[in-house]
Amino acid sequence: MQLNINGQSREAQADPSTPLLWVLRDELNLTGTKFGCGVAACGACTVHVNGQAVRSCVTPASAVAGQKITTIESLGTADQLHPLQAAWIAEQVPQCGYCQSGMLMAAAALLAKTPQPSDADIDAAMTNLCRCGTYPRVRAAIHRAAAAMKGGAA
Ligand code: FES
Ligand code: FES
Repeated sequence: MQLNINGQSREAQADPSTPLLWVLRDELNLTGTKFGCGVAACGACTVHVNGQAVRSCVTPASAVAGQKITTIESLGTADQLHPLQAAWIAEQVPQCGYCQSGMLMAAAALLAKTPQPSDADIDAAMTNLCRCGTYPRVRAAIHRAAAAMKGGAA
């Protein structure tokens, strides 16, 4: 099975019905995408498929073969943070951190579609669960990143 991940063509040997999450983590060593619930409830496993936020724990790898898959590993780099990552640091969003790569990927998909989201837009798009209760900081960081991407202060 040929997968297009973070702009690279990757060969995966897993059974085609294997959830994308496990192909990413176990076969391709892209461990930034996390396992939380396995039933599409928590969002820890969120990646992008053709720019849309998708829960990889319930997405068979074969269903996304040939499509553009993006994981947290390509959101930004240490030298060049994505505006969301910079905002996450500025707002000190992460607590234990476990849910945060999924949060960031969901937020990135939101801003790509809705560059200046309202609180209601954020609440509707960010259905990820966080046991540490970082929701108010997530919301603040999304607004901060949106302002930075518009040209305002980060
Ligand atoms: S691990 Fe996929 S939604 Fe929770
Ligand atoms: S930061 Fe701990 S679960 Fe979200």
